[in-house]
Amino acid sequence: MHSPSFHKFTRRVLLTLGFAGCALSLPRVLVAQEPSPLAPLQRPEIRKRVDELLQKMTLDEKIGQLNQISAADFLNPPNREEMIRNGEIGSFLWSVDPERINKFQHIAVEKSRLHIPLLFGYDVIHGFRTVFPAPLAMAASWDPAVEEGAQSYAAREARAVGVNWTFAPMVDIARDARWGRIVEGAGEDPYLGAEMARAQVRGFQGADLTAPDKVLACVKHYVAYGAAEGGRDYDSVYVPETSLRNVYLPPFHAAVNAGVASLMSAYMDLNEVPASGDRYTLHDILRGEWQFGGFVVTDALAAKDLVTHGYARDAKDAAYRAFHAGVNVDMASQTLSKNLKALVSEGKISIEEIDEAVRPILAIKFQMGLFEHPYADLSKKDQILSDPAARQYARIAAQRSMVLLKNAGHLLPLKRDVTSVAIIGPLANTPADLNGGWGVPGQAPAVTVEEGVRKKLPKAKLLLERGGEIRRTIPSQFEDFFPGAVKTPPLSEAENEREVQRAVEAARKADLSILVLGELANMSSEYGSRSTLDLPGKQEELLEKITALGKPVVLVLVGGRPLNITWASEHVPAILEAWQPGTEAGNAIADILFGDANPGGKLPVSWPRSAGHEPLYYSHTLTHYPESDPEYRSRYWEGPSSPLFPFGFGLSYTAFSISNLRLEKSELKAGDQMTVSADAENNGTLAGDEVVQLYVHQQAGSASRPVRELKGFERVALQPGQKKTIHFSLGKRELSYWSSSERAWVEETEQFDVWVGNDSTAKEHATFRVVP
Ligand code: BGC
Repeated sequence: MHSPSFHKFTRRVLLTLGFAGCALSLPRVLVAQEPSPLAPLQRPEIRKRVDELLQKMTLDEKIGQLNQISAADFLNPPNREEMIRNGEIGSFLWSVDPERINKFQHIAVEKSRLHIPLLFGYDVIHGFRTVFPAPLAMAASWDPAVEEGAQSYAAREARAVGVNWTFAPMVDIARDARWGRIVEGAGEDPYLGAEMARAQVRGFQGADLTAPDKVLACVKHYVAYGAAEGGRDYDSVYVPETSLRNVYLPPFHAAVNAGVASLMSAYMDLNEVPASGDRYTLHDILRGEWQFGGFVVTDALAAKDLVTHGYARDAKDAAYRAFHAGVNVDMASQTLSKNLKALVSEGKISIEEIDEAVRPILAIKFQMGLFEHPYADLSKKDQILSDPAARQYARIAAQRSMVLLKNAGHLLPLKRDVTSVAIIGPLANTPADLNGGWGVPGQAPAVTVEEGVRKKLPKAKLLLERGGEIRRTIPSQFEDFFPGAVKTPPLSEAENEREVQRAVEAARKADLSILVLGELANMSSEYGSRSTLDLPGKQEELLEKITALGKPVVLVLVGGRPLNITWASEHVPAILEAWQPGTEAGNAIADILFGDANPGGKLPVSWPRSAGHEPLYYSHTLTHYPESDPEYRSRYWEGPSSPLFPFGFGLSYTAFSISNLRLEKSELKAGDQMTVSADAENNGTLAGDEVVQLYVHQQAGSASRPVRELKGFERVALQPGQKKTIHFSLGKRELSYWSSSERAWVEETEQFDVWVGNDSTAKEHATFRVVP
C-alpha cells in the first residue's frame, strides 16, 4: 500500500501536468515554508524513548550507532553479522538486495541485546528501478513539483527492497561545467537550487516518515564541494564567507528547513579545513544558526581522510576532529568506531558528548517507526517495482526537463511524412548512457532513440550508425558502478574513421538526420572532471561533415553537462538538450522531436562557449566596465565572454510574451513584502509552457551586489491565445543578503531593479526603493 498522500500527490501532479487532457497551471505548493516534519528530539514521546534507550546502552553500543559499514562485499570486514549482533553497527550502505537487508535487520532486531534496527543507505539519486532524469535535468524543468513527484517514486521503489535512507539530494551549486558532478545538482543558482532541494526532501521523506513508501533524505555534500578549483573533482575549495552564505549554503539551509533527516559532509578542503572536520560549518552554522535536528554522516571514508589531507596527525586525531566538528556517523572508515572509546577514557570526549551524537540517530529510527516495522515488506516489492505509473511519470519528467536551444526555420517539430531518417551517434542507442550516472543494479534500461523514433514513424526507413566510439582516456575508478561502461578494447583510428564515413553515407541517403551526441554516463558524475568541454571522440567531425551535406539535421545532446557546441549553434538548425533523460529517454526525446510534447525546459546553467570560459554564471558582480558597454561582451580578445545561451534560456514550439510588469509599491518598508505581477501570454498556435522568471538587483549597498539574481519563477502552462497573470512575492527573504563588510545578513534601504522575462536577460524592468 502506498500512503494516501502519495496517491493524492501523484494525481495532483499528473492532473496539473495536463495528463488528464487539460493543462492547468501547477500549484506553487513548494514555496510555502511548512513546519519541519522532523525535529524528532523536540517531540516529548520520542525524546523519552531515546533517553530510556540510551540509559541501557553501553559505550560500545553507543559508538556502534555512529558506525556505518558497507553491506556490499567490498571495503569492510567480513564479520558483519557478528558485529550487528554485538551492536557495533548502526547503519549500512551499498545494498539493494532485499534478502540481505532483511537478514541483517533480523540479526539487529532479534539477536542483538537492545534490538535497535539498522538503517540501510543507498545512492538513490534519480530513480531506483525506474530512472528519472538526472538532477541537473530535473532542475532544467524549473518545476519543483515534478521533481518532488519523481523522488516520491524513487523513495517508494527503494523502500520496497528495504532501502530506508538515500544519499540525496545533492545540492552543490556548480558554476564550472568541467566539474563532473555538476550533473548531480541543480546547476549554478542558489534560488533554483533551494527550490529543487526542498522539493526533493519532500519527495523522499514526505510529511510523515512512518509512511512505508518514504526514505530518509541526506543533503550533500556540505559544503561548497562544487567550487573545486579548476573543476577538478575533490580539489581544494577557497570560498569567502560572502559566497558561502549567499551562494553555497542556501540550498542546504532550504533542505534543513524542509526537515531533511541527515546531511553528508564533503571530502574536500574548504578554506584549508577538510569539510568533514570543519566545526565552523558543521557545528556553528548547521547546529547553532540553523538548529539542525538530524544527524551528519561523512562522505565515504572522509573521516579517515582527515589524515590523508594532512590535517589530522593519525586515525585517533582524525576521529577526534571529525567528532568534535559535528560528525555523527562515519561512513565506512571505522575511524570513529576504532578510536572513540580511547578518546573517552582519555577524557578528550565526554559520555554526554557521545550521547548527544547518538540521540538524533535513535530519534530518527523511532520517528521512522523502524522499531515497530523494521523489515522490507517483500510481498509488495514486485508490484511496486513494475508499476506502469512510474514509467508514465518518468516520461513526463523527461519531456519537461529537455531544453530546446535552437530551432531555425521551425525544423522542429518534425513532420511524420519522412520516408527515411538516419539516427546517428554513439549515444543514440546506449541505454545505460541515456539513463545516466548513479545506476542502481536492476534498473530499467532506457528506451533508445531508435525505439522512440520507430514508434512515431512505424513505416519509415531508419538508418542507424554509431559514427565512431567515444570513451574516457583514463577510466573511472568507479567503472564497475556504471552499468554500460565500455569494456572492449578501443577501436583503431582507421576503424573510427570508417564508422564516421558510414554515418555520413547514411545521412546522405536519408531525408533527415538525428544526431545523438554528447558524453557517456561515466564522463560526468564523481571522478568525471574534464579539462575541455569539446564533444569527445570524433563527434565534432561527424557533426560538421553531416551538416555540410545541406540536409536537415537535428542535434540531440545527451550527457551531464553543457558542452562546447559553439560551431553547432551557428550551423546546425535544431538543437535539443536532452541531458540524461532516464528510462523513458527515447520516448520522451521522440515526443519532443515529433511535437507530442512541447519543450518548456530552461537552462539551469549559463552555457559556456568553451572550457576556457569557465567558471561562468549570470549573477556576477559589476566591474568598472559598465554592463551596457559592448566591450563587456568581449573580455577575452578572441571573442565574446558572454554565455552562448544565458541561464534560464529555452525555446518552445509556440511563442510567448511577458509584459505589463507591475509592482504593488514603489517604496517598500524594510521587513515588509509586496506583490510583483506580470502577464504571460501564449501568442502562438500551440499549447505550451513558459517559465516566468523574476530577477532583482540592488543598486548600491554595503557590498557590491550581483548584476541580477533570480528571486522567483513559475512554470506556467498556456493554451494558444491564453494569458495569465503571474504573481511573485518580494520581501525580506528575497532582498536580504550576507554583507561581507557588515559580516551579517542585511536588508538595506536602497534602490532596486526588478526584471521579469523568460531568461536571465529579461527586459521588462521597473525599480523600487526599500525604505526604513
Ligand atoms: C560520493 C557520495 C556518495 C558516497 C556513497 C561517495 O564517493 O561522494 O556522493 O553518497 O560515495 O556512495
